[in-house]
Parts: sequence; structure tokens; C-alpha cells
Amino acid sequence: MTTAFAHPNIALIKYWGKQPQPGNLPATPSLSITLSNLVTTTRIDDAETDEFCLDGVVRDDAKVASFIRLLRNEFSIGQLKIDSTNNFPTSAGLASSASGFAALARAINSHCHLGLADQELSTWARRGSASAARSIFGGFVTLEPPNFHATSLADPNYWELQVVVAVTSRATKDVGSSAGMERSRKTSDFFTAWLETADSDFDEAMAAVRNRDFEKLADVSEKSCLKMHAVMLTSIPTLAYWNSTTISCMDSIRRLRADGTEVFFTNDAGPQVKAVCRPTSVNTVAQTLRDIPGVQDIVICGLGGGARLTPDAAQKNAPQLD
Ligand code: PMV
Repeated sequence: MTTAFAHPNIALIKYWGKQPQPGNLPATPSLSITLSNLVTTTRIDDAETDEFCLDGVVRDDAKVASFIRLLRNEFSIGQLKIDSTNNFPTSAGLASSASGFAALARAINSHCHLGLADQELSTWARRGSASAARSIFGGFVTLEPPNFHATSLADPNYWELQVVVAVTSRATKDVGSSAGMERSRKTSDFFTAWLETADSDFDEAMAAVRNRDFEKLADVSEKSCLKMHAVMLTSIPTLAYWNSTTISCMDSIRRLRADGTEVFFTNDAGPQVKAVCRPTSVNTVAQTLRDIPGVQDIVICGLGGGARLTPDAAQKNAPQLD
């Protein structure tokens, strides 16, 4: 048995939309932070027939099945029992597919002795879910053309940021991101403008991270998030991932920021709000969001490391030297 862990990552510069060709290639570059605390744990063992179990329930998951099929086209992989658990709500805009496919790729790489280095592993994780490519690495991570394997921009301890996640619903989302992206590409009048400005947003964010400039990172991250939601909302039928509590949280974060607290919001294909802040602001931000009616839970994360094996699995499956 082999066990791997991976954390979700939150994009500050978002990816939304795919290139119209095989390979699950994003249409835009993205920049993310990998979170600590939220974690997917994936255990893999040899089996008589394939079985995938998520959060204790055996599932027929088309994305996982297709990921394993793709790997089997290239590598000799036997039947596998995969048991994956999240310590946070699944499919609710908390990037469970990112941590899920990163942990799965890391576990299979070791269990089946594929011998893939991190960048190749990231390319494989991307085939499962593009954002998973980024969760192979910790800290600040980019996913950009032409190769679209993720790259580590800076370690978790490069710049102390924290993320306060306000959970506003535990419901599974109605429209998953791949279907949503395709809908946006086909129907949103804003999709072309989104593509045209993606590179300059990415460059601005890279500069802000390099200079540890919180205000600049805050401005460009909120802009990228709001542009992505403008594209989602103008898709037909609309992709409305927010609820009224999401909007209240965003309003409160804007007020905190206007009063001088170092914080900004970002949210993804779901109603949860992620408030990115400096450690000095984390208590104020958490208290403010906790008091908003409709907020069900507050989770505080720092920046975490990349997808990894348990120490015993790493040792057991390490390549043997002659
Ligand atoms: O990797 P996917 O297919 O789950 O898409 C993720 C898309 C967003 O989370 C909305 C944005 C991003 O870059 O992570």
C-alpha cells in the first residue's frame, strides 16, 4: 500500500477555459498558492479489479477512470484499489479536484514505479484536472504556456500569507468546472476579452510576488477573480456560483481593506470565499467573516508544501541503488 497527501491550491490569477485541442491545456496562464491544513489523503493498493472510493463511498468517477486509462496507455499499471479522503467539503469550490489528482498522481507514480520527476508528474496531474498540476508543488506556483506543467515560483516560507476560508455552503456544485468552461467559451460575450487580458494580469501578479507587494497582488487578484466571474455570469445559461453570503463576505473584505487591513478576496467555481491576508490581519479577518450570517465555518490555512508520500511509502518505493 502507498499513501500520498496533497493540498488544494487557490489560484490568484485564474484559469478558466481550455484550448480546443486534446491534453487538457488551459487557455490562460495561472498563478496559485498551495494551502496547508486542507488535505486529500490517497491510499493505493493492488487489487483484483479497479475500485475508487472517495470519502468512504465507492464511486463510478468518469474523470478518475479516464485518468487511469490515459496512464495505462503509457505505463504498465495493474488493477488498483484507490481510497481517497478529504478533510474538507468535496466538489464545493475548495479545489478538491486539484488536491485529489495531485495526490493520486503522486501515489501512482510511487506505487507503480513510474519514475516521473515533478514536472512530468505535474503534466500528468493536469490531464486529470488542470489545477491539479499546480498542487504537485508547494508555496507560489505558476502554470503557463507553452508546456503547461506547473513550476515552483517560491517556497511556502518565501512570503507569509494566510488564507481564511469562509464556508458558505456544503452543497455539491451543479455545474463542474470543465462543463462550465466549455459553456463560457461557447456562449459568453466576455470570453475573448478574458483571454486578451490574461497575460498582462499574470505578469502583474508575478511582479507583485517577486516584490512582495501585497497591495499590487490584492488589486490584480481581485481583478482576475471578478473577470472570471463576469465570464461565468454572462455564460448562457448563467453560471452563478455565488450565494448571498458569498457577496456579504466580499463586501466585508472590501470594507476591511478600505480601512487599512491587508486582505483581499478570491473565489472559484463555488460559493466559498477565500480571504488572503497577512498574519497580522488574520484574527480580524476571521472574526469579521465568522460574524456574517450564513457563514457555516471558518478554516484558517497557511501556505503548504507540494504533494508528497508518507515517509514509509517514500522509503519503501524509492529506487534501489545497486
Ligand atoms: O482544474 P479545474 O478543471 O477544476 O478548474 C479550476 C478552475 C478554477 O478553480 C475556477 C480556477 C483555477 O485556476 O483554479
